[in-house]
Amino acid sequence: MSDKLTAAKKRLGKLRKQINQHNHRYYVLDDPLISDGEYDRLFREFLDLEEKFPQLITPDSPSGRVGGKALAEFGQVNHRFPMLSLENSFSDSGIRDFEGRLKRFLPESAEFSYVAEPKLDGLAVEIIYEKGLLTLGSTRGDGKIGEDVTSHIRTINTIPLRLRSNDVPDYLEVRGEVFLTIEGFRQLNEHRAAAEEPLFANPRNAAAGSLRQLDSKITAQRPLQFFPYGISDPSLLNSNNQREALDFLGRLGFKINPLVHLCKDINAVVDYFHVLQKQRHELDYEIDGMVVKVNSFSLQKRLGSKARSPRWALACKFPASQATTRLLDVEFNVGRTGAITPVAVLEPVALEGVTVSRATLHNGDEIKRKGLRLGDRVLVQRAGDVIPEVIQPIIDLRNGSEEEIRMPSVCPECGHELLRKSGEAILRCPNPHCPAQRLRSLIHFTGKAGMDIEGLGKKAMEQLFDAKLVNDIPDIYQLVKSDLLPLEGWADKSADNAILAIANSRKTTLARFLGALGIRFIGEVTAALLENQFKTFDQLMRAGEDDFLDVEGIGGQSATSLCQYFADPAVQEMLRRLFDIGLHFTTSDSGRKQQPLAGKNFLFTGRLPGFSRNEAKARVRELGGQVASSLSKKVTHLVAGEKAGGKLKKARDMELIILNEEEFKGLIEGE
Ligand code: IVH
Repeated sequence: MSDKLTAAKKRLGKLRKQINQHNHRYYVLDDPLISDGEYDRLFREFLDLEEKFPQLITPDSPSGRVGGKALAEFGQVNHRFPMLSLENSFSDSGIRDFEGRLKRFLPESAEFSYVAEPKLDGLAVEIIYEKGLLTLGSTRGDGKIGEDVTSHIRTINTIPLRLRSNDVPDYLEVRGEVFLTIEGFRQLNEHRAAAEEPLFANPRNAAAGSLRQLDSKITAQRPLQFFPYGISDPSLLNSNNQREALDFLGRLGFKINPLVHLCKDINAVVDYFHVLQKQRHELDYEIDGMVVKVNSFSLQKRLGSKARSPRWALACKFPASQATTRLLDVEFNVGRTGAITPVAVLEPVALEGVTVSRATLHNGDEIKRKGLRLGDRVLVQRAGDVIPEVIQPIIDLRNGSEEEIRMPSVCPECGHELLRKSGEAILRCPNPHCPAQRLRSLIHFTGKAGMDIEGLGKKAMEQLFDAKLVNDIPDIYQLVKSDLLPLEGWADKSADNAILAIANSRKTTLARFLGALGIRFIGEVTAALLENQFKTFDQLMRAGEDDFLDVEGIGGQSATSLCQYFADPAVQEMLRRLFDIGLHFTTSDSGRKQQPLAGKNFLFTGRLPGFSRNEAKARVRELGGQVASSLSKKVTHLVAGEKAGGKLKKARDMELIILNEEEFKGLIEGE
C-alpha cells in the first residue's frame, strides 16, 4: 500500500467514526456536540477522500446515507422467521380477555408483566446485522418473502450502519417500523405541490412510497424515521425480556420510542391504553393503537404462535374514529386565495372524545362524487389529523326529503361572480378586494406559518379588521397602543407586548416573509428554496420565470404565481410601504455560510469527470452563486467540461468567463 493510501485509510477511518458518532448524537440522542457547519466540513472532507480513493469505501460508510444506485427491480428476501401480524382488540374488555387467554396457556403460578408500546402506523421492516455491520434491510412483504431495500434503509439516520457496542451477537435481525413524522409528511407534500407532483394521502402512504422508490437517492431526501420493536430471535441476546432487549438495542445505537412503558399487570395496561389514546394527537407521528406484549421471553416462547399471530402480543386499536350523524347544511368558506370550500354543518357528534359539528367537503366535485344531499345521514371520520371528514351518505336511511347541494355562483362574502378554471376542481372568487380573502391573508401573515407575531392570532386579527384598524399588511405596522386598548380583551400589558412583537417582526428572514405573504403555491418549503437561491430581496425581484424554474423543487405553477404576484402594482406599492416602515432581512441559518459566489451565475456544459452535475451545482449554491439551465444574459460563468459543444462557442461570442474543470475546482476550493 502506498504511503498516500495508508494515510487516507487512516484518516477515513477516523472521520467515519467521528461522523457516525455525530450522527448518533444528532439524530438519536437529539444532543449534538458540534455545529452544523463543523459537521458539514467533516463530511465534505470525508466525501472528497472517498472520491479520491473509492477502493476504501466500507459498508458502514456514512456516504451510503445519501442513497445508492437506482435499481431495475427489488430483490427478494426470505425472512428466516416469518414476520407475523397481530390479533386486534378494540376495547378495554378485549384487553382483559387477552390476559384470560394467556392464563389458559400458562401455569397458575406464573407471574408476568407486560410491555405496552405505541402501535406506529408505518411499514414493518427487518434489518440484519452481521458482525455488527448492517448487511440487509427488507420489507415485510407477505410475511415470508419481502423486498430488499438495503440501500433505502441505509438512508435512515436513526438506523446505525455499524452497531455501537463490541458486545454484539455475530448475527442479529432487528425488526421495527419505518415511518414519517406528520411534519415530514406535510413538508414532503408541500414540496410535491410546488413541483406539481401528486400528493400523498397520509404519512403511511408517503412512507411506503418513499421506501419503495427504485432510486434510493430519492428515499434519502425523505425524512424517514425508525423505531425498533423487537428482534426475530431473542435467544441470540443476553436479554431476558422485551424491555431489556429494547434497552440493549438503544445501547447498540437505535433510537427507542420513549413511550414504551412497562406495566406490572393488566390494569396498568388498560390505564396506559387510555393515556396513549389521549396523547395520540399530540404526537408528531401517527399511531393507530397500542401493542401489548408479555415481557418475559421465556413465557413468550412457552405461549408460542398461531398461524398468523403470536399468542403473547395483542394490538389494542383505538376506538373507531367514525360515527354517523346528520348533514344539516353546507356553508361556503372563502379562503385566502379566494378558493371556495364547502363546509358541512353537522348535528354535533362525539368522535374520539371530541364533539364534531363541522367537516370539510373539499370542493363541488367531491360532493358530487360522494353523492351527498342536504338532510342525509352521513358517516364522518376524524383521521389522524384534526380536520374531520364526511365519508359518504347512508343511502338506505333516506326518506325522500333530502335536497341537492348547489354550489354558489357568486362569492358569499363580496357578491363577485365566481370562476372555475377548466381542469380545476376549485371554485374561486377572483376579486382581490374581497374582504374575506383580505382577512384570511392577514390572519395568515401574522399567524404561526407566517410572521408569527405574538398576540396577533386569528381572533385579534378579526377584531382589528372589523374595527377597520387593519385593512392591509402595512397597516399592521402602523398600529399604536391606543388603537388596541379600547378593543375587548386587550389590556395594558397585552397591548404593549403586541406592539413590541410587531416592531420586532420588521427584522425577519426573506424565507419567512415570502411564506407569510401567502402567495399561491409558495409555502414555507418553497420560500426557503427561494431564499437559498436568491439570497436577497433585490435579486429575487430581478428574477424572471425562467430563473424561478431553475430552482430545484419549483415547478411551473409556482413560477407563474410568483411572477404574477410581484408584477401586481398593488403588491409593489404594499412592499414599498413595508420597506419604508423599516422591514429588513437577516439571513436564515441555511444562508449564513460564506457567499463568495454571490452575484455570479453559472451554467454547466459538457462532462466534468471529477464532479457529478448535481454536486457541482450544489457547491455553487452553497457558496452563494446561482445556477442557470440555459444560456442567457444573466449567465456570468460557463463551466465547460469534456465534449462541450454549441454553448461553449456561444459563450465565447458573448465574452463570458469560461472555466475548465480545473479552473472551476480552483474557484470553489480557493474561495
Ligand atoms: S410487534 C410478532 N410492535 O403492527 C409481533 N408491531 O399488526 C409483530 N407495529 O406488522 C409486531 N408498532 O408493522 C409490533 N410496537 C409495535 C408495533 C408493531 C407497529 C405494526 C407492525 C406489524 C403490525 C402488526
